[in-house]
Amino acid sequence: MSRAARTTAAVVGALLVLAIVALGILAALGLREGDPPAAGAAPAWAGVPADASAEVSRSAAAAAAAAAAGADPAELLRARGAYLARAGNCVGCHTVRGQPEFSGGRPVPTPFGTLFSTNLTSDPAHGIGDWTADDFWRALHLGKSRDGRLLYPAFPYTDYTRTTREDADAIFAYLRSLPAAAQPTPPAQMRFPFDQRWMLALWRGLYFRPGVYAPEPARGDVWNRGAYLVQGLGHCGACHTPRDWLGAPQSDRALAGGRIPVLDWYAPGLGAMPVREATDAGGAADDPHAWVGLLRNGISPTAVIVGPMAEVVRNSLQHLAPSDLRAISTYLQSLPPMPAAPAVVAARGTPVSTGVMARGGKLYADHCADCHGRDGQGAGTAYPRLAGNRALTDEPAVNAIRIVLNGGFAPGTHGNPRPYGMPPFAPAFDDQQAADLVSYVRNAWGNRGGAVQSYEVNRYRSAPPD
Ligand code: HEC
Ligand code: HEC
Ligand code: HEC
Repeated sequence: MSRAARTTAAVVGALLVLAIVALGILAALGLREGDPPAAGAAPAWAGVPADASAEVSRSAAAAAAAAAAGADPAELLRARGAYLARAGNCVGCHTVRGQPEFSGGRPVPTPFGTLFSTNLTSDPAHGIGDWTADDFWRALHLGKSRDGRLLYPAFPYTDYTRTTREDADAIFAYLRSLPAAAQPTPPAQMRFPFDQRWMLALWRGLYFRPGVYAPEPARGDVWNRGAYLVQGLGHCGACHTPRDWLGAPQSDRALAGGRIPVLDWYAPGLGAMPVREATDAGGAADDPHAWVGLLRNGISPTAVIVGPMAEVVRNSLQHLAPSDLRAISTYLQSLPPMPAAPAVVAARGTPVSTGVMARGGKLYADHCADCHGRDGQGAGTAYPRLAGNRALTDEPAVNAIRIVLNGGFAPGTHGNPRPYGMPPFAPAFDDQQAADLVSYVRNAWGNRGGAVQSYEVNRYRSAPPD
């Protein structure tokens, strides 16, 4: 190595060390904000609502009934934990289909490599059987494993940190009651340099602020309950908030709509949502939160839940107490509508030619009108209405394209146990035909959306189904 090269290397090295030290200090400063475990009476916006008992999972409902009959308080704690674990959809990520619930090992893809969820059963070797409540609190609140390892934020502890200590203890008590499954967690497959867990200290210093939810007293208990669930256990922002290039949620655009990396679905902005649903009157007329029917049943006369959101409804939201869904609705309705990003505004302006409309209209009449109606009016809650359906005109158009290519089902729920399915059309259409068709449904019957190009369709042909 020449002298000049050696000097340069030394300078670069020194700068790197300096940067790491500086960021490390920042990280340490950030993390010192961790608050002490809450003490005293549980706040009204935390815990489990009174109308939950019939809604919680079967074992938990039985436990709640037993507790009401003067039974074991430990049982009641576990029942509360079961409900709160539902609210957090812990089972979704921590279960592989066909394996025991919570035994972990499900791959969680990230732009930086693949992680595997861990075993949360009471197995002492592979699960959390020998964890203490403090260990569990550190994982949920601070994102640290029992051995001090920093955890990747694909485990959404950046949201779960809002959860109170009481609620975390209840979830822990519930998990500890699960039968042990001796299933080891596969090692993470992250690419260099993201496989270096210590680097997470830097990320955390920049992006992670641990802290239990701080209520806004002026807003009242219902609003605060909704905010507590949405920002905390519900981790809605994990998908609905846009992320920057380091995978960090953009806090100034919370719930403004985000593209889910790798899975490639678009989770629309939630700020404007309730207004649309309220005016659509998609539920009981006397219910000011009519749109919560969509979150409970997975389908309404004007919308249907698809893609990764289907799992959220199936595992989590359909099990929540009516008061909790109304609280979530109250909070979301109070969010200001976010102005669209410039790229979105530009894409909306892409005009659709009359030729595309003619070709797309012909394909629609031949392949789609039987179910969705000649004028896109749909058929009750069996076949969703496409006229005036926001899911179609969202920018980007990825969800509409993927549904046409892959078909699919709304989630099976108590309210809609046998959902109708939509057949996949990927084999029937080439890229240009599918693009024409989606452009058509985005602009027929008064809908307004930008034109879809054939290369966009091509890109989603190989995307993972959900
Ligand atoms: C979006 C997927 C996802 C959801 C939802 C999720 N987890 Fe996880 N969880 C993970 C992943 C991935 C890891 C492993 C992270 C790592 O390797 O750094 C993990 C790790 C953990 C750990 C650390 C275990 C250990 O051995 O260090 C605990 C505890 C945990 N999760 C509990 C929960 C609880 C409780 C919930 C629900 C409130 C939950 N998780 C919801 C994906 C998820
Ligand atoms: C795993 C990612 C993910 C999480 C977590 C998530 N969502 Fe979604 N959500 C989506 C996607 C993707 C869509 C778009 C597909 C659809 O419309 O069903 C969506 C759509 C929605 C819609 C609109 C449905 C429609 O068709 O109009 C609502 C309302 C919604 N989500 C609310 C929530 C709430 C409330 C939470 C938190 C409790 C949440 N979501 C958590 C991914 C997610
Ligand atoms: C056999 C009946 C059937 C046919 C034919 C059919 N669909 Fe569907 N479609 C459904 C059902 C059921 C759903 C709701 C479940 C789902 O999303 O998978 C749906 C959902 C959709 C959605 C999602 C709406 C939303 O709110 O997210 C779009 C878009 C759509 N269909 C477009 C089309 C187009 C375009 C065609 C013609 C190529 C077509 N469908 C053909 C039954 C059908």
